[in-house]
Amino acid sequence: MSFMIAENIKQKIDYWLSKYPADRKRSAIVEALLLVQEQNQGWLSEEAMNAVASYLDLLPIFVYEVATFYDMYELKPIGQHKIAICTNLSCQLRGAEKIVEHFKARLGVGLGETTADGKFSLREVECMAACDGAPMCQVDDRKCYPNLTQERVDELLKELSKEK
Ligand code: FES
Repeated sequence: MSFMIAENIKQKIDYWLSKYPADRKRSAIVEALLLVQEQNQGWLSEEAMNAVASYLDLLPIFVYEVATFYDMYELKPIGQHKIAICTNLSCQLRGAEKIVEHFKARLGVGLGETTADGKFSLREVECMAACDGAPMCQVDDRKCYPNLTQERVDELLKELSKEK
């Protein structure tokens, strides 16, 4: 099945392309993949990656290399909300382990898993350069939630559960 990049997504990719010389389209792969991932319900199918390669006029291998290297790309379908919890040093020292356990208990899934209702996927990630707010997590590759406590996790899940 072929994948069509939406017009509004193409415009956003063009914005990133405009930042680089015309013969350096590979520089826009990272952002293009994030945008297409967002369009495709949070994950990158092979067709979606091929569409990015085609739009950037690159060999698909250049796109696959990026998509399989970085943590923020999902290569399988995931839940409606991706919760990425940092467990690197600063977050670890400020209680990330307890935060992970609380998320797991509240959602009934482990790291790398998705809830049965398809609402949440839990991920463990490396430092997200937001150590001043440790322990922290990021939701849907965009929004950071710093200074997590068990109470703040409960509030976050309540807030996200309200979204359709
Ligand atoms: S260690 Fe968690 S954001 Fe840096």
